[in-house]
Amino acid sequence: MNKEVLDGLFRPKSVAVIGASATPGKIGYSVVESLNNGKYEGAIYPINLKADEILGHKAYPSILDLEGKVDLAVITVPAKLVLSAVEECGKAGVKGVSIITSGFGEVGDHETENAIVETAHRHGMRVLGPNIIGSLSNSGKLNASFAPMLPLPGDASLISQSGALLIALDAGTYLRGVGFDKLFSLGNMSDVDFADIIEWLDTDEHTKCTALYIEGLKDGRRFLEVSKKTNKPIIALKSGVSAHGAAAAASHTGSLAGAAKVYGAAFEQAGIIQATDLNNLFDLTQAFELQPPMKGDHLLIVTNGGGVGVLATDAAERFGIPLEFCPPELQAEMKNYMPEFGSAKNPVDITGGAGLEGYRKCIAFGLQQDWVHGLAVLYCETAVTNPDEIAQGILEAIREAKATPAGKDKPVVISFIGGTRCAKAMRYLIDNGIPAYDDPARAVNAIAGLRQFARLQEAKANAKDEKPFAADRNAALEIIKAARADGRDALTEIEAKQVFGIYGLDVTSTLLAKTEDEAVALANKVGYPIVMKIVSPDILHKSDAGGVKVNIKDDASTREWFAKIMANAKAYKADANIHGVAIQEMAPLGTEVILGSINDASFGPTVMFGLGGIFVEVLKDVTFAVTPVSKEQGLKMQSEIRGAKILAGARGEKPRDQEAMAETIARYSNMILDLQDEIKESDANPVMVYEAGNGLKVVDARIILKNK
Ligand code: ACO
Repeated sequence: MNKEVLDGLFRPKSVAVIGASATPGKIGYSVVESLNNGKYEGAIYPINLKADEILGHKAYPSILDLEGKVDLAVITVPAKLVLSAVEECGKAGVKGVSIITSGFGEVGDHETENAIVETAHRHGMRVLGPNIIGSLSNSGKLNASFAPMLPLPGDASLISQSGALLIALDAGTYLRGVGFDKLFSLGNMSDVDFADIIEWLDTDEHTKCTALYIEGLKDGRRFLEVSKKTNKPIIALKSGVSAHGAAAAASHTGSLAGAAKVYGAAFEQAGIIQATDLNNLFDLTQAFELQPPMKGDHLLIVTNGGGVGVLATDAAERFGIPLEFCPPELQAEMKNYMPEFGSAKNPVDITGGAGLEGYRKCIAFGLQQDWVHGLAVLYCETAVTNPDEIAQGILEAIREAKATPAGKDKPVVISFIGGTRCAKAMRYLIDNGIPAYDDPARAVNAIAGLRQFARLQEAKANAKDEKPFAADRNAALEIIKAARADGRDALTEIEAKQVFGIYGLDVTSTLLAKTEDEAVALANKVGYPIVMKIVSPDILHKSDAGGVKVNIKDDASTREWFAKIMANAKAYKADANIHGVAIQEMAPLGTEVILGSINDASFGPTVMFGLGGIFVEVLKDVTFAVTPVSKEQGLKMQSEIRGAKILAGARGEKPRDQEAMAETIARYSNMILDLQDEIKESDANPVMVYEAGNGLKVVDARIILKNK
């Protein structure tokens, strides 16, 4: 990132509008009007071939008349004129161009889009867009867009791939009470993308957290790296996670939307909080810009209604922070702050009859207890209480408790349930820095996000540096080269296992016999019982061809089956290229798991892990991670699947060897990353995992090569 250039683009000291117009209703008019309405303090230069003046600013026929004077050029001329406008901007020493014009990559014209970026880079400029609404900044008093207003001021920033959505959300900030400093429209992301802006915002004093609306990433790996590095919270809403949605997104922005599970995994690996919908994106953003992360698991709920308390309790479990009862000494103290029939367990139910004092005391006491890591205050509107007074009293109690060392860094969220009086009271709380929501589940969801962020930060800080595994890459490449020379795009099972073996995976010994005598000799080397399988690149479904026999126990049967398998294969496909018969160690039965890899369009090689057999085929109980995957992450992947308990030891069964499995996942990740230029897809299926301490065996392996 060239910070100075991006400063010119997002914090410009002067702005030119190329295609500025004096005709109301035109986008070139709106942008100048927006700059005026935002009270931009730098110089504004409308560029128009005919006009002398536009909306109070002297107009110029060409940007070349302003050489050296312009940081940002906003371009609003029709598509066919954009490339030459960018060339002129370069000659005039402009730092960055923001291209509002549509009609490039999104409609298939990648050639002009690429030429624009190439021209800009040649002149040291960066390009925002094209196909955007522009960018906005409250602290810069900059509305360089055709959005009618700057957003409600606040400490968050928002980056959106969709322009129309950004305009709508901009106006919505006032309704929702969620403030932003900066809004960025990315459009086609021909040059400046999410990663560039996240990196730039890392040093922006006006941004505490960043919300993203993502349709698809072009360079997912860079996005991951940059997001991992920033310590500011990022909340991302990814659209196009359904199969049909992905198709809609692809046609919308011309970019590829990746698989939902891969995005979910990547967000978690990068420490990003994933929002489920627009409301959730705003809810989480509000919590992050107003409150600190939640540094422990204990959430205290104080409520005047049992029902909303239970709803919040359910939500806490659903969102990953299940409630615990308060320790007895906390309960004993809080019992003093409520009527006899209240409950101090957690949720702390001060009951409908209790007034402000109950809230005040429970909040003041609760927030200062070491046991409490976060607080949710719930209120149901009643005839005997006034929401305004309750809000004021709650705010005072929170402020007082937060002014003490014990209460200082703990997050608080509020939910008022009722009518317009409650809505007004909540707005008062939000304006005073306390996130407030009209549903207890939304409040709990928001504070759960603050907890998840702290967990992800801890995991980041505690991530151990694992030594990379050494492997003889050249030996693996030789095997691949030989298969390619043979005209194949897939390795045989024996070759695939050799490659897996080079990378340290524990494969069943599998040797190739070309004659009966060889078969017997190799069977004795491997040790009975053995499995025999036909080896032919032309026979993929070995069992269908009568090409597999298991549990062979002696030399005589080995001879007999060598002949039978060869004959079956020839009968199945007369012209098949037959390498011979594989003599394979027969692995004892264990828990079957599957390891696989796909090359994701955005994130590159990814590892998939799940239970094998019916679990993967019917239940699709698998989890993904973007490479590189460490041993530590390998352990985590095993805990992420629904069938995790089967591996951890369910119904009196001993736990499986999860350590060995984790190491296998890490070694497999190393293999697919190291050979990513060669391998298109691969899997180890099944892998038999034995009891803890007894390791595992990769029973079958497959490697499909990339077309070259
Ligand atoms: N230098 C300076 N000004 C020029 C030049 C030039 N070389 N050539 C033309 N102009 C002037 C024109 O004379 C005109 O000014 P005028 O009104 O005084 O005559 C002005 O530039 C604009 O040109 P028009 O031909 O009038 O173009 P128009 O305004 O109709 O359309 C636009 C241009 C808005 C860029 C259009 O092509 C476009 O792309 N629209 C879609 C933009 C959009 O929606 N982007 C966001 C996508 S996200 C979302 O969905 C919201």
